[in-house]
Amino acid sequence: MLPQGQPDRYHPALVTLHWLLALMLGVALVAGGVLLENTPNTDPDKIFMLRAHMSIGVLILLLMLVRLVVRTRTARPSHAVTGNALLDRLSVVTHWSLYAVAIAMAASGIALSLAAGLGPIVFGGSGDPLPADFWEYTPRYAHAVFAYLLMALIALHVAAFAWHQWVKRDGLFGRIWFGRRNSAKHMSRNKVA
Ligand code: HEM
Repeated sequence: MLPQGQPDRYHPALVTLHWLLALMLGVALVAGGVLLENTPNTDPDKIFMLRAHMSIGVLILLLMLVRLVVRTRTARPSHAVTGNALLDRLSVVTHWSLYAVAIAMAASGIALSLAAGLGPIVFGGSGDPLPADFWEYTPRYAHAVFAYLLMALIALHVAAFAWHQWVKRDGLFGRIWFGRRNSAKHMSRNKVA
C-alpha cells in the first residue's frame, strides 16, 4: 500500500537507482557496442572485457529488479502531464518499455552466455578458447535488437526530459533529484503542469 499524500519527488533510493542505472546502462551499451563488438574473440583481452561486461550486465538486472520492488513500495509523484492525452500515454508506455527492454537486454545476454558456455571460460579460468563467433547463437541477435531498442527508448526519454525542462519549464528534473519531499497537499512549487 502507498503511504498517504503524493510527494513531489521520488524516494531517494529510487533517485539513486535511477542515476546509477543510467550510468551503468550507458557504460554497458557503449562498451558492448564499441569495444566488445569490434574486438575479435581471438584477442587475449576479450575475456577480460567480457568479464567486465557480463558482471555489469548481471548487476544491472539485479538493480532493475530492486528498483521495481522499491517503486511499488514507495510513494511517488503523479505522472507528469503535457496537456496532450496521447503524449501522456506515450510517456507511461515509454517508462514501462524502458524497464522491460533493459531487463530483456540482460536476460538475452545471460541466454547468450549460457548458449556459448561462457561461464567457465570467462569466470572459471577453464583455459578453453572463446567460440569463434557469437553470431552462431540465436540470443546474440536478440541481444543486438534489444540494444537498438534500448538506445531508441533512452533517446526518447532524454528528448522528453529536455522538452519538459527547457520548453515547458515545469521543473521535471527536480522530481528525480535529491531534496525535501513535500506532500502534494502542501505543495506550492515544483508542480508539474
Ligand atoms: C542491460 C545490460 C546489458 C547491456 C546494455 C548490454 C549491451 C551490449 C551491447 C550493446 C552489445 C553489442 C551488441 C551489438 O551491437 O550487436 C553486447 C554484446 C554482448 N553482451 Fe551484452 N549487454 C548487457 C548485458 C549482458 C549480460 C548480462 C551478458 C552475459 C551475462 C552479456 C553478454 C554479452 C556478450 C557475450 C556480447 C557479445 C560480444 C561480441 O559480440 O563480441 N551482456 N552487449
